[in-house]
Amino acid sequence: MTLNVLFLAAEAEPFIKVGGLGDVAGALPEAIHNATRPGSGLPEVDIRLVIPFHYAIKERHFETQYLGEYEVEKLEGSEKCQVYLYKKGDIPVYLLDGLPINEKSPVYSIDPIHDGYKFVFFSLAALGLPQFLDWRVDILQANDWHTATAIYALSKKKYRKGRLKDARTIHTLHNLPFMGFGVQQALTDYGLPPIEDPILPEWARHSPLPMGLYAADRIIAVSPHYAEEILTPEFGCGLDDFLKSRSDAISGILNGLDTTRWDPKTDPALTQNYDLASLPLRPRNKAALQAQLGLEVRPDTPLLTLVSRMDPQKGIDIALRGLHECQDEDWQAVMLGTGIPYVEEMAQQLEVAFPGRVRSLIKFDGNLAHQLYAAADIFMMPSRYEPCGLSQMISMRYGCVPIARATGGLVDTIRYLPRSPKGSTGILFKKPYPSVFAKALKRTFRLYHKPEIWRQMQVNGMASDFSWQQSARQYEAVYEDLVTEAKRSKL
Ligand code: GLC
Repeated sequence: MTLNVLFLAAEAEPFIKVGGLGDVAGALPEAIHNATRPGSGLPEVDIRLVIPFHYAIKERHFETQYLGEYEVEKLEGSEKCQVYLYKKGDIPVYLLDGLPINEKSPVYSIDPIHDGYKFVFFSLAALGLPQFLDWRVDILQANDWHTATAIYALSKKKYRKGRLKDARTIHTLHNLPFMGFGVQQALTDYGLPPIEDPILPEWARHSPLPMGLYAADRIIAVSPHYAEEILTPEFGCGLDDFLKSRSDAISGILNGLDTTRWDPKTDPALTQNYDLASLPLRPRNKAALQAQLGLEVRPDTPLLTLVSRMDPQKGIDIALRGLHECQDEDWQAVMLGTGIPYVEEMAQQLEVAFPGRVRSLIKFDGNLAHQLYAAADIFMMPSRYEPCGLSQMISMRYGCVPIARATGGLVDTIRYLPRSPKGSTGILFKKPYPSVFAKALKRTFRLYHKPEIWRQMQVNGMASDFSWQQSARQYEAVYEDLVTEAKRSKL
């Protein structure tokens, strides 16, 4: 029997990408479809992606087909939803439009109330789709707070009907602190009451993310380690006690990486392509980049990089302060990214402090990002928390050794064996303090100057398997489990 999965997300590549969620929603549904094709030995999964038809997507003129419209009920009256289909990829993608989505606002605006209406409308509109398509849904999978309302609504009789009657739900968690605060009015207007169960703290009973976590049949964090961390006060954002009560439903599945797009052998942005067999060619990228950015071309000086959203989550301040503590060592560094102004400013100050050896580029530049992964020796990722993380996987695939905080997906993807560094793929440190980072960085420099060990670390990283195949199979197993459970409960 084919398993039908409705996959909801606020953003997805190639339509629109703001953060890591866009990478995942753009890759995972296709990977699941491909992993379960006839002949794979697994039950076939008919997975369909649903995203809002954001203004920024319309501007890019994808070839879509208008399918029609239906009403989304509100407490009083209703709102129309228009459905468009994009079918050029491996799986069908539905783009939903309607007044709350139609505005020229960005994917995520700075106005939580506006975003609240947009994503509550979108979540409920997505629940109208199975009926509109006359397509049975076995699994509804939502991601983060934006689409969590769909899971919560399905726990209400009003929505659990027709082609959604037997649907089981999965809430995939990419980022716990973003809970959808300020959305209460939208929920009320669309007839969704807050949760009354005291198992949830009062403040969480009317925010979409906790509501979804409360109602979902399964909660899947984007890495096994993050799935454990969210049960602790440090990472649980005040929901750790509640999440502990749901621990039977929680697991972690690591994200994959688009290994076609991220391949140093074919990457068109690089000065010099290379792979494991031609690794000695890699330093040409370093020399080209040093020259291009006006840094002294020094092959033996470790070149550090940080490509990131400039956000407190990413611990950029930890790296910047840590670098000051390493000022007597020989290194160069390039920072690339945009984000919160005070973090951007800190990055710029580093260049002021070390004019000859630091470049801080406050911009988004896709090509340069690719070049940095291929040119730099060391990738810095001192995240305060990191549900999964993508950059560390890219850097390892490109032979750039990561130094990262031992948190979330970084623990699950980077292998660090302090006693036998030759078996490692990177360096991990525990506490998110500049002095701890500086100490780990000094250790990293020592390893860098032992070419045989360093080369082996690069090779280990480049040979690691970060493809989506693995994650796709694990999600499929969860789908099967849930459907079996559903059948059993009907007996
Ligand atoms: C969020 C998390 C990041 C994760 C991504 C995709 O952006 O911060 O760690 O990789 O979602 O799941």
